[in-house]
Amino acid sequence: MKFNLLFFVGLLVNSVRSFSYQALPRGLINLSSSQERDVYTMVDWATAYGVQKAEGVGIYSNDGKDYFAATESDIPAGSPVVCVPSELVLTSSKVAQEFGGSLTEAENRLIRGGLEDKIPLFRLYIKILYELEQGENSPYYTYFNSLPRSYNTGASMTFACFDCLPPYAAWLAMQERQTSVNFQKAAKLTPISEPILENICALKWAYNVALTRSVEWYGERCLAPMADMFNHGSEAEVEISFDEQGNCIAYATTDVPAGSPLRMSYGDSRNPSPIFASYGFLDESAPATFCKLMDTKLEMEELGYTYSDLLFYKTGEISPEVYDVVLYSILKKNDLDQANAFYQAVVSGDEDTKAQYHASYWLYTKEELCKHVDGTLKDLARWSAKAQSYDLNTHPRVPVILHHNEFVKQTFWNVKANLDSM
Ligand SMILES: *[C@@H]1O[C@H](CO)[C@@H](O)[C@H](O)[C@H]1NC(C)=O
Repeated sequence: MKFNLLFFVGLLVNSVRSFSYQALPRGLINLSSSQERDVYTMVDWATAYGVQKAEGVGIYSNDGKDYFAATESDIPAGSPVVCVPSELVLTSSKVAQEFGGSLTEAENRLIRGGLEDKIPLFRLYIKILYELEQGENSPYYTYFNSLPRSYNTGASMTFACFDCLPPYAAWLAMQERQTSVNFQKAAKLTPISEPILENICALKWAYNVALTRSVEWYGERCLAPMADMFNHGSEAEVEISFDEQGNCIAYATTDVPAGSPLRMSYGDSRNPSPIFASYGFLDESAPATFCKLMDTKLEMEELGYTYSDLLFYKTGEISPEVYDVVLYSILKKNDLDQANAFYQAVVSGDEDTKAQYHASYWLYTKEELCKHVDGTLKDLARWSAKAQSYDLNTHPRVPVILHHNEFVKQTFWNVKANLDSM
C-alpha cells in the first residue's frame, strides 16, 4: 500500500517535471539571426532516415550562408535525383490526423477570416511549432538546425519596408505578413504551449519555414527534408512529385550535365514580384516585371487579365495586354460606346477590330504609358532613397528591397526608350 502510494507520488512528480520541462524548452534551436546553419549534419541525418540521392548529387555552399544542390555526375532526363521516404515527409493531411479535433477551432477562425485556402499551410506551421517546442527530443531537431534563421520574405518585412516598395510588390508582401499574423492568433487556439506562442521570433520562423520550404501537391502542403534544398530556377533541372505511398521523388526534367546546379521552379518566372514577396529574393532570371498599373485593376479584371499578363519586359517590350488595358481605361473615361465596342473586340478575340482601335488611339495610349513610366521612375527613385536612409542594423532587408527596385527601374528605363522610339 505504502509502496503504491509512493509510486503514485513519484509519477506525479515526474509529470510535473516533464511539464516544467515543456514550459522551459531546453535545447530549443537557437533562432538568432546570426546563428550559422548546420547543413552537413542534416545531410547525414537525412541519409540515416533513408533519404537517397543519385550518384554525384550533393549540397554545396560558397559562403556558409546560402546552400545549393548540384551534381558532379551526369543525370539523364527522367531519372530520380533525390528520394525522401514518406515517414520523413510532413504533410498537411498527416498533421490533421495527428492533431485531430484540436485544430478545429483555430481553422474555423481562419475560415471566418477568409483564409480557408491557407489551412494546409497552417497545419504545417502548427506541426513545425510543435516539433520546435520538443527541442532536442524532436526527430526534426537536426533538420531545423540546418535551416536559415533570417528571411527576407513579406512575412518578415515591416511597414518601413513596404513604404520603399512599388505598390504591387508592397501589397503582395503585406498579404504575407497579414497571413502570418492571422496564423499567430489562430495558433493560440491550438495545443501549442505558451512559451512558443509568446516567442514572436519562433512564430515568424515557423511561418517562413512552412511557406518557403514546402510544395503544393494536389491541395496539400508537403515538406520533404532534403528535397527542400533545390533553389529556384526559371529553367529548372528538377521537378518534385510524390508517389502513392507519399514518398517524395525529385526527378530530372532534362539531361543534366555534371557540374550543374539542381533547381526547381518556385512559381511563375514571368514576373518576379510574387516570388519576391513569398520567398524574399529577386529572381534575376525573370524576363519581365508587372507594369505597375494599379489604377486600372477594374479594367484588367473586366478584360479577363491578371497581374501576370500586364508585363514590361527587360528588353523594353510591352505585353499586348497592357495596351488593351490602357486603351480600354482611356475609352471608358471618354466614350462609353467606343469602350464597349473595344471591350467586345477584346473578349471575343476580334484581332482586326482591336488593331484598328489601337491604331486610331495610339497617340493617347502612348501618352498615357509615357506618363505612367515617368511617374513610376520618379516614385522608384523616391522609394529607394527612403530605403537608403534606413539604418542597416535595424533594417536588414534594405539590400533586397534596393535590388528589387533597381530591377524594376532598369526595366522601366528600357520601356521608356522603347516608347520614345515608337
Ligand atoms: C545563439 O546564437 C548567437 C549567434 O550565434 C549567440 O550569440 C547566442 O549566444 C546564442 N544563444 C544561445 C542561448 O546559445
